[in-house]
Amino acid sequence: MIQENVLTWFLACRTTDVPENGGVCVKYQDDQIALFNFTRRGEWYATQNMCPHRMQMAISRGMIGTQGDEPKVACPFHKKTFSLATGKCLSGDDCGDLKTYAVKIENDLVYIGIEDNE
Ligand code: FES
Repeated sequence: MIQENVLTWFLACRTTDVPENGGVCVKYQDDQIALFNFTRRGEWYATQNMCPHRMQMAISRGMIGTQGDEPKVACPFHKKTFSLATGKCLSGDDCGDLKTYAVKIENDLVYIGIEDNE
């Protein structure tokens, strides 16, 4: 039987707190989450803020773009790129993947979904 993960939605910020086609870092307990307002696609994404390449808290400051149909973010340090949809490293090397989070918008407020077992 497939069990759906139960999400706890926490209020991260207002939509206007996140620059268009840019990202911010939000804290959830001891975690840093990179939140992106991908205006060009009309989509929001959230990933862990720590780049798995050299463990830098940097992903929220990365440049976002599209590769094929895949939304992506490039870490500002060494430009490793990751899918914003799946978190997978797209740089062709084995630097590890990003954890991704669900995002929902309600009444101009941004909520990030945290799995209950975290
Ligand atoms: S620390 Fe992110 S690419 Fe190296």
